[in-house]
Amino acid sequence: PLIKELFGFTDLEKQLARMLNLQKVIVVPGDSDRSDWVKKEMGKAGARLLKQLAHPRQVVAVAGGTTVASVAQMMTATAGLRETTFVPARGGLGETVELEANYIASLMAQKSGGKYRLMHVPDQLSDEAYHTLIREPHIQEMLEILRSARIVVHGVGDAQTMAKRRKSSPDLLEKLKEKGAVGEAFGYYFNAEGEIVHRGHSIGLSLEDLQSVETIIAVAGGSSKAKAVAAVGPVARPDILITDEAAARTILLDL
Ligand code: G3H
Repeated sequence: PLIKELFGFTDLEKQLARMLNLQKVIVVPGDSDRSDWVKKEMGKAGARLLKQLAHPRQVVAVAGGTTVASVAQMMTATAGLRETTFVPARGGLGETVELEANYIASLMAQKSGGKYRLMHVPDQLSDEAYHTLIREPHIQEMLEILRSARIVVHGVGDAQTMAKRRKSSPDLLEKLKEKGAVGEAFGYYFNAEGEIVHRGHSIGLSLEDLQSVETIIAVAGGSSKAKAVAAVGPVARPDILITDEAAARTILLDL
């Protein structure tokens, strides 16, 4: 805490929380666009938070991406999390397996000593497949578990970066540009006002479901994500944001 005071981070956290209307903001030093250890520091802060918030027999739903993966990597065996079930917030979104919510949920369980459940749903479902799958008993059961989640941990991405990483069609890339998409979370793309401009067909927690979640934690840093982080509020309604100095300063000074 002393170091933080010296660098004026407490102030940065307070200002950002006020500006984005969040309960709590945690800022780690540096820019995760430039150095990987900054993402690891965000991961550490996330792991610490999950430990502090642990509750008996809770469900924690996690989304995908490298930042939430780094939270998983930093988790350690914790008595308080032994009774926790980690679940993926959504089915496949077109990420490589290490970045998929399923994999990250299992990694969190493995690292913390908790349990996990998986949900095997491919990305890019057709209308027909979506409506068939959603009626499957296994999927129904998973959705029920998901909707009982007490905590949700998710990343936030820059819209174009995410669409490209997920090998989206040129049509979608164009549409996102036209509609002014700046960010992405849970597979939802949104503009600078926090309005959804595109949603995929993946199965899992919907934004409406998030309303019953006790604590929503967003983890995202790097100046390249400043616009996305600044606009995620109305979309996912995070209570706590873990970010880095570069994103925090860009949001406060340049947007
Ligand atoms: O939904 C957001 C993205 O998954 C964020 O991914 O943490 O790898 O930037 P990232």
